[in-house]
Amino acid sequence: MSEIEIDYPLVWDADVLHKPYEIIDNPILNRQNLFESNVRSYPRRIPIVPNKAKGIYIKDISGKVFIDCLAGAGTMALGHNHEYIKEAMISLINSDHPIHCLDLATEIKDQFVTDVFNILPENFKRTATIQFCSPSGADAIEAALKLAKIVTGRSNILSFHGGFHGMTHGALSITGNLSPKKGISNLMSGVMQLPYPYHYRCPFGIGGHEAEEISLHYIDNILSDPESGITLPAAIILEIVQGEGGVISASKFWLQGIRKIATKYNILLIIDEVQTGIGRTGKMFAFEHAQISPDILVLSKAIGGGLPLAVLLFDKKIDKWASGAHTGTFRGNQLAMKAGSATLEFILKEDILSHVRNVSEYFNERLIYLKSLFPVIGDVRGKGLMLGLEIVNIADDPNNLGSYPGNKELSRIIQQECLKRGLIVELGGRNSSVIRFLPPLIITKDQIDDVLNILHDSIKVSISKK
Ligand SMILES: Cc1ncc(COP(=O)(O)O)c(C=O)c1O
Repeated sequence: MSEIEIDYPLVWDADVLHKPYEIIDNPILNRQNLFESNVRSYPRRIPIVPNKAKGIYIKDISGKVFIDCLAGAGTMALGHNHEYIKEAMISLINSDHPIHCLDLATEIKDQFVTDVFNILPENFKRTATIQFCSPSGADAIEAALKLAKIVTGRSNILSFHGGFHGMTHGALSITGNLSPKKGISNLMSGVMQLPYPYHYRCPFGIGGHEAEEISLHYIDNILSDPESGITLPAAIILEIVQGEGGVISASKFWLQGIRKIATKYNILLIIDEVQTGIGRTGKMFAFEHAQISPDILVLSKAIGGGLPLAVLLFDKKIDKWASGAHTGTFRGNQLAMKAGSATLEFILKEDILSHVRNVSEYFNERLIYLKSLFPVIGDVRGKGLMLGLEIVNIADDPNNLGSYPGNKELSRIIQQECLKRGLIVELGGRNSSVIRFLPPLIITKDQIDDVLNILHDSIKVSISKK
C-alpha cells in the first residue's frame, strides 16, 4: 500500500498524542447539553468538539489530537478526509451535477452500481440486483425484512442474541439488546431470538465446537418439530461478526450450517454486513470467510465512503417488489455514490484488503500480549480491523468455562483514560464491557503501536483507580 500522507498543519508527534488531557467544560458542549435531546449518546462518553480530521486522526477545538478507533462507527473505511474521496466529491460538486435525484438514473449511479457489482463474489453477482434504500442501515434492514415476507408469504423472523440491526421498529424488534426496547410496546411480532455462538460466554454453558453443533441441531429441530410452537420463518438474519453485540464472530462451520438449514427450509438468509462490509474483516464481505452466500445482503456505513447510503443486494429471482413498494426520498444521494465509488476504487487499487489482513494480525497479536499483562482482559477477539477486548471482574467467581463476569465500570474508566490520552474507542457488548476497535482500514503498524501504548497506560491507570 502506498504511504498515506498526512500533510496536515497539525502536530501529530507522540508528545502531543500522549499529553494527558483533561476534558474541559466548553460552551459548545454546554449548549449541546441544553438544546439537544436526551437521546444523544456518543457525546456523553466522548465529550469533544472535533473540527478537523485527517486519516486516523481527529482534532478538537481545544487543539487536542485523537486517534480515532471509532471512525464513525466503522463508516470511515479510508479514514477522515481521504484525498482520493475528497477529490471525487469536489469534482462532482464543481460539475453542477444534481446532488440528489430520488432514484432516477444518472451516470454517477450507473458507475456506482458497476463498482458495487465489481466487488461481489462471482456466484452472487451473476444473478444479483441492487436496491437503493433510505440512507441508513436500519432502513435497509426494514426493506430486507419486508422483502423476505413478500417473497415467502411467511411472517416470522429468526435473529440472534447479541445481534444489532438498527433502531427503527422492525430492526429494533430483531435486535438483542433490551435497553433500547424499554417502554416501546408493540414491537414487531413473530420474532424469535436464538443463541449466537459466543464462546467466551457460551449460552449452552459448554463452549467450543460442540456448542456450535448443539446450536445447529437445536435450530434444525425447532424448524422441523411439528410441536415446537414455531411456524417456519420468512428469514434468518445475522451478522457474521456481531459488532455492537461485543465483537463476536461466528465460525465457518456454524455459518455453513446455518446456510444449509436456511436452504433446507426455504428460509431466506439475510446477512447484515452494515458494519462488516467493504473490507473491514480483511475480505470485501465477511461472509466470504465462510464461503457462503446470503439471499439478501445488507450494506450501509462504508459503502457510501463516509456519507449516508444503504443498499440491498439479492437474487433477481426474489425481486418480488411492486414498483414503489419500498420508497424513500433520499435514495439518490449522488455525493455518497461518488464517494462510495472512490472508496471501492481505492480499496482495489491499493490492495487495502491485504493491508487489513496484515495489520490486523499484528494488532490482534499485540492485544493478546496485553491480555498476558492484564488479567482484567478476559478475552481478545474479532476479525480483521474489528477487534474487541472483554474487560472482566477477576475479583468475582468465574463460570464453569473459566470466564469472569464483565466489568462495566472498569471498561468505562479505561475508555475515559484512553480519551484523556488521545484515543477514541467505543464500548459494546453485554453491559458495555467490551472495548471495541474499529479504526480506519488504512491504519499502519506504527499507528497501531500508538494505540496500544495509550491502551496499555490507560488500563494500568484504570486498574489502580478501581
Ligand atoms: C450490523 C448493523 N446493522 C444495522 C445497523 C443500523 O445502521 P444505522 O445506524 O445506519 O441505521 C448497524 C449500526 O451500527 C449495525 O452495526
